[in-house]
Amino acid sequence: MNNNQPIGIFDSGIGGTSIWREIHHLLPNEKTIYLADSKNAPYGQKSKEEIIALSMKNTDLLLEMGCKLIVVACNTATTNAIKELRTKYNVPFIGIEPAIKPAATNSKTQTIGILATQGTLISELFYNTTQKFQNTKIIEQVGHGLVQLIENGEINSLEMTQLLHSYLQPMIEANIDYLVLGCSHYPYLIPQIRKFLPANIQIIDSGEAVARQTKNILKDKIGLSSKETNTPVFYTNTNPTVLKEILENKYEVEQRDF
Ligand code: DGL
Repeated sequence: MNNNQPIGIFDSGIGGTSIWREIHHLLPNEKTIYLADSKNAPYGQKSKEEIIALSMKNTDLLLEMGCKLIVVACNTATTNAIKELRTKYNVPFIGIEPAIKPAATNSKTQTIGILATQGTLISELFYNTTQKFQNTKIIEQVGHGLVQLIENGEINSLEMTQLLHSYLQPMIEANIDYLVLGCSHYPYLIPQIRKFLPANIQIIDSGEAVARQTKNILKDKIGLSSKETNTPVFYTNTNPTVLKEILENKYEVEQRDF
């Protein structure tokens, strides 16, 4: 392993770019390669075995491309497959999990809401996390349909607004003061959610924490790259239009089969 090898990042689709943004912001001198496995999105309804197989396929490609560290920019893949990934591969993995701890620790109403995929909410890892916060009421909601709409470029559609309303209104009525976004696609919905979520309810996700952890692991285990800013590389296995749009058309996106 050497400092100048890239950081590999993968997600079931375009959502993990919310994590990539934080990493690129904190570590602008690192080379990054992002894989959007949009062809197989959503992962959220797949079995644990399928999620593990897809995560390994993505990891194999990133390792072929010479990555020194892999960021699993997907809560569903992390909560279902990170243990198996760490067992199989001899490379550091950083995962992303719903930010239950800061929400539960800071909640004044002792009631928090979490919006995530089914795969994340039924995972053992998520169950174990929630068990640590038995004094907090955690209102869980599966974000059925949200990932597909984001993947289709329909963030601002009426259907999105209606779905978000139906998922979040019961949480508002239950007096949550924190809303945890437990899927890396969802930070792109914050402007939509903010339109109707009362201002006293804080929205939190895990992007910044993942970037900080990536920096720490690099510093401790591999060493940070000292090169000038590198151009990030993005791959998708479907039509690249929506990925390009979510990146504000600032970067090239290559379509390839994986
Ligand atoms: N972006 C992913 C996550 O964080 C997966 C969404 C999905 O493919 O269902 O959970």
